[in-house]
Amino acid sequence: MKRPRARNSEPVRPVSIVGTGSYVPERVLTNADLEKMVDTTNEWIVSRTGIRERRIAAPGEFTSHMAAKAAQRAMTQAKVSAGEIDLILVATVTPDTFFPSTACHVQRLIGATSAACFDLSAACSGFLYAIEVAQQFISNRTYNTVLVIGADRLSSIVNWEDRNTCVLFGDGAGAALLRWRAGSSGVITTFMGSDGRHANILHMPGGGCAAPTTPENFDKKLNTLHMNGRETFKQAVISMQTATTKALEQSGLSIQDLSCIIPHQANLRIIEALAERMDVPLEKFHVNLDRYGNTSAAAVAIALDEASRTGRFHMGDYILMVVFGGGLTYASSVVQW
Ligand code: ACO
Repeated sequence: MKRPRARNSEPVRPVSIVGTGSYVPERVLTNADLEKMVDTTNEWIVSRTGIRERRIAAPGEFTSHMAAKAAQRAMTQAKVSAGEIDLILVATVTPDTFFPSTACHVQRLIGATSAACFDLSAACSGFLYAIEVAQQFISNRTYNTVLVIGADRLSSIVNWEDRNTCVLFGDGAGAALLRWRAGSSGVITTFMGSDGRHANILHMPGGGCAAPTTPENFDKKLNTLHMNGRETFKQAVISMQTATTKALEQSGLSIQDLSCIIPHQANLRIIEALAERMDVPLEKFHVNLDRYGNTSAAAVAIALDEASRTGRFHMGDYILMVVFGGGLTYASSVVQW
């Protein structure tokens, strides 16, 4: 197995995921509920996406609240106290506020007073981008303990009158605590890629300085998620295949070495297409999108927590996470558990 080296050629410090946690809101929105809201059917949604239900945050339940609950579960599992956390990274496209960062809100909620905090924007790929940032900080000895969170409340930016998009998304948060751990392999490598030429296939055009939240822009629904579904589907399969191949090449492992693949949970057909292209049985993939839909940056983080807690893989096993999202962004991490 190839391990990356720091610029000074010293072997970098091994970084492990020492705890995971996740949280989804209580309220369940089923396909039957959506049939009453837009012109759709349970049959259409299940056959085109695999999604049966998703969770929707309660009024007053923000991204930071979900993130903090996921973080606390990761801290409990890892037996790490709030005071030991050096850095909080929150990957999200639905921050509580533009500023301060959601990471600062999480810091306040969990009492991690010694941490530096910032948010990272890479849409659905954000959790793995944040894992790579954390890995760099720890392996280069800047920080010892980093809390990485993927959290999104997409229900607040979905256009609930657009059947093309509103059936796909849900709310939730997932967290991982990363630390240097002697003698372990931990996060072996992460490959990250982006292609800004595809920025318009999946985006929220309003709310930033390009189209501020004026009454006109608001009425045009610019503050909601817009998506070209077919093009996104195509790019998702291509980019996840690229990311998987690159991460495996970087790690020196083959796909047969993996015990479990944890993909972005957008659409079962995308995962099936990836399985076919990579020539791996679908059973190797951990899938939970039937219950949660696409929770954006939270999706792979929730799936990781669920897969580890339900014994999908064990200590020493190799796993691969792979994601894509708006930007276009994509990434894949290989981890020895
Ligand atoms: N119910 C019923 N009919 C629908 C619905 C719905 N909810 N949504 C769309 N349709 C209709 C369309 O209007 C279209 O009708 P038309 O032919 O009369 O125009 C028809 O169904 C077929 O539409 P297609 O776009 O061909 O359907 P497709 O098989 O491509 O499935 C889907 C659509 C599910 C959106 C698919 O393209 C997809 O999953 N794309 C990727 C989406 C994705 O992954 N997004 C998130 C990416 S990153 C992130 O997580 C933020």
